[in-house]
Amino acid sequence: MPGNCTYLNGNSLGPLPLRARHHVSEVLRQWEQLGVEGWWRARLSATLAAEEMEASWFELAEKLAPALARIVGAEPKEVIATGTITQNLHQLLATFYAGNGDLLATSLDFPSDSHVLRSWARRLGKTVRLVPAADDGYSLDPKVIEDMLAEPGLEVAVLPTVLYRSGQLLDVQKLSKIARDNGVFLIWDAAHSAGIVDHHFHDDEVDAAVWCNYKYLSGGPGCPGAVFLHSRHHEEEAGSGASREAGLPGWWGNDKATQFEMRLAHEPAGGAWGLQTGTPCIVGLAALAGALEVFEDVDMEEVRRQSLRMSDYLYRQIRRLLPEVVVETP
Ligand SMILES: Cc1ncc(COP(=O)(O)O)c(C=O)c1O
Repeated sequence: MPGNCTYLNGNSLGPLPLRARHHVSEVLRQWEQLGVEGWWRARLSATLAAEEMEASWFELAEKLAPALARIVGAEPKEVIATGTITQNLHQLLATFYAGNGDLLATSLDFPSDSHVLRSWARRLGKTVRLVPAADDGYSLDPKVIEDMLAEPGLEVAVLPTVLYRSGQLLDVQKLSKIARDNGVFLIWDAAHSAGIVDHHFHDDEVDAAVWCNYKYLSGGPGCPGAVFLHSRHHEEEAGSGASREAGLPGWWGNDKATQFEMRLAHEPAGGAWGLQTGTPCIVGLAALAGALEVFEDVDMEEVRRQSLRMSDYLYRQIRRLLPEVVVETP
């Protein structure tokens, strides 16, 4: 830890897990000894999803999917470690936003989300409607979000699970249902909840979500982020059996079985796995593998209970010792 401090910056960059250091060194050694052969012959061994797994670099992202999926309450094919939040948002909009209606976001969003949405609205001649901040200036009124999700002419919405400015946690299950009932495709930015909140993305019928793995999950600076896509969106047309093609397709989103046949036609890998684009950063994925190993023994519901207990303790101490401090988290 820098300066032997108590490190409380997991909301920005989680600390280094020893298993991440182990796997990064392992990949560097493999690179040195195997060169390009590492894509097939390297074996990164980790205990994930309660199993000893051995993954070549070629299949590493897919092999991490079950462990990553467990953390957000998803099925393995619904999740993939790839890209960044920014890139994955562009990917989801390219795939699911046809420009038949407006976009919805909030005025308290992280700038990158706003940049993405504005670019798509501009391209398709539509508007980004913004949920205004509540009177305190740092939180959102859930009732206003509910009403705006039900307004006519809306096609896609992006909402934060947790607001990075105030720690406000939105009701993912309830808002996802309201969006669904109104025919709005809702994408959650879970940057500030993945690894700290017990999500149930599959059961809550969330359409899609994006998050980074470098915060609470401690996957390392700039390690690949993640995207969730619910299984009901995996086919081009429900019941067609044809895997949906990404709006921004690339060879790493091709079916692994035919990827190296180098055909010009794209054959999408099923589910979220087909949302990958180009060659992933294996050093970053190796660090993430180590971080996910640490989470293997972690029950996300217990993490949430513990987080609430610690926050409660902190609030009580603040009230007792620092009465002048205002707690802004709703
Ligand atoms: C809420 C939120 N959204 C988006 C981003 C951008 O993430 P990335 O740099 O992985 O695209 C961040 C980065 O910290 C964030 O906190």
